[in-house]
Amino acid sequence: MLEKIDQPFILTIFGASGNLAEIKIFPTLYELKMKRMFPKDFYVVGYARSPLSQEEFRNFVGKSIKAHYRGKVNEKILSAFLSHVHYVSGKYNNENDFKRYRKFLATLTPNKKMTNICYFAVPPLVFKDIIRNLGETGKSPNEDIRLVLEKPFGDNASSARDLFHFVSRYFNEDQVYLLDHYLGKAVVQSILALRQSNRILNLMMKGAEVANIQITAFEDVGVEERIGYFERVGTLKDMIQSHLLQVLALITMSIPVTGSDASLHREKYSILSAIKFSRSKRNIVLGQYESYKKIKGVPKSSKTDTFAALRLFIDRQSWYRVPIYIRSGKKLHEKHTYMVIELKKHEFQPASQPPNRVILEFFPEEKLTIKLVNKHGRTERYQDVATSDTIACEGDSCLPEHGVLLMDVICGRKKHFLSFPEVIATWELTDGIVKYSKRNNVKVEIYKDNSKGPKSQENITKTDGFEWFDIH
Ligand SMILES: NC(=O)c1ccc[n+]([C@@H]2O[C@H](COP(=O)([O-])OP(=O)(O)OC[C@H]3O[C@@H](n4cnc5c(N)ncnc54)[C@H](OP(=O)(O)O)[C@@H]3O)[C@@H](O)[C@H]2O)c1
Repeated sequence: MLEKIDQPFILTIFGASGNLAEIKIFPTLYELKMKRMFPKDFYVVGYARSPLSQEEFRNFVGKSIKAHYRGKVNEKILSAFLSHVHYVSGKYNNENDFKRYRKFLATLTPNKKMTNICYFAVPPLVFKDIIRNLGETGKSPNEDIRLVLEKPFGDNASSARDLFHFVSRYFNEDQVYLLDHYLGKAVVQSILALRQSNRILNLMMKGAEVANIQITAFEDVGVEERIGYFERVGTLKDMIQSHLLQVLALITMSIPVTGSDASLHREKYSILSAIKFSRSKRNIVLGQYESYKKIKGVPKSSKTDTFAALRLFIDRQSWYRVPIYIRSGKKLHEKHTYMVIELKKHEFQPASQPPNRVILEFFPEEKLTIKLVNKHGRTERYQDVATSDTIACEGDSCLPEHGVLLMDVICGRKKHFLSFPEVIATWELTDGIVKYSKRNNVKVEIYKDNSKGPKSQENITKTDGFEWFDIH
């Protein structure tokens, strides 16, 4: 059963003429309206520099919903939704435009106490202008305003810290929602739920019992459409710094007992700040797919990593000597995201027997599998016995990641968002790795398009006598 929101709200989308708004936010809002999750009293306000009339903007929103909503659009519901949609054209760095925007909200909702959600669907270079102008034109320190910022939060520890300090000048930390859409995935949300609800599983997944942890995020497409952004960042910063380290934190952190948002963030920060990269070439592999440099706008000298694999450790007694392997890449042979926890074997077990494994698949299936080893019938052959079940949400209760997270913002829940200390800790780790690879000239290995990626990724696991576990 889906929850319904009672309190009235305004959702302003800054950068409403852009790609994120078009392909993710508007279709998601339509779905939430269609599933009757919104109250009668809600307002969607687009804000951008493009000079659009109310009608032109509603047409743009309608078209984006028809193009990107994952089901069949109901014209009647769509037109009801569009009647809640408004547009304000203004610059991001002009305080007068923000005063005009504030006035517009006041005429829309006279004498009503509203939650005002401000979604930043703009490039990060515009974040500070919007923060400043929202802060300067704020009604009162008590206004119920919530800022939603999408990853990336800065592009290194220093710029993330700077953003944190800047936003803190105008807003309290609890008014800021740092969104990484991975945390809206049903499987990612289920990691902690599984650990909390299954003592036995949690005992198995303790450092003393785990041989290694592997996280794989393979994509089969390249980066043509996002090349301007990607060429500056690469896979290490785009995929590992936030998405995959967040997944690792949820698996390895201590389980907070109270379940409060603050205790969760504290534990996540604690483990993220303990992740260590030992400066050695055997702990990093970078790659680039063969046709990457043929993309328009990519310099021939580009060393941007479209593939990265790391060997990490956690500076904790409880995870002592448990290697963590993370790899992610683009233009590979398959789109597949999964995590494998390989359990220790008895010392007397023959090397030929596979280890027990706990596997969580994120894509294409959302599935939990536990692989045990047993004798095959009366033979002397040992094989995996898998017990497996889907953990995908089913039917009408499923929402896209942005829908799940937007509902959280409207309801004031911060569990599935990041905190600035977590962001800064993961940037500190990533900065150290980037610095090491540049200073030591870590080779960027060219790999064939649609292949399994750089061959030397095997060395990352071989160091400890393990192998990457490929799910077929
Ligand atoms: N697109 C995605 O799938 C995606 C996925 C994850 C995260 N994100 C994040 O979401 C945010 C928005 O992404 P997006 O792809 O929607 O960006 P975008 O399309 O490039 O920009 C959104 C809007 O911002 C305004 N804008 C663009 N460049 C600007 C500039 N240099 N100065 C001032 N305004 C500018 C434009 O509106 P006006 O000119 O009309 O004002 C544009 O329509 C980014 O932080 C991005 O990293 C995007």
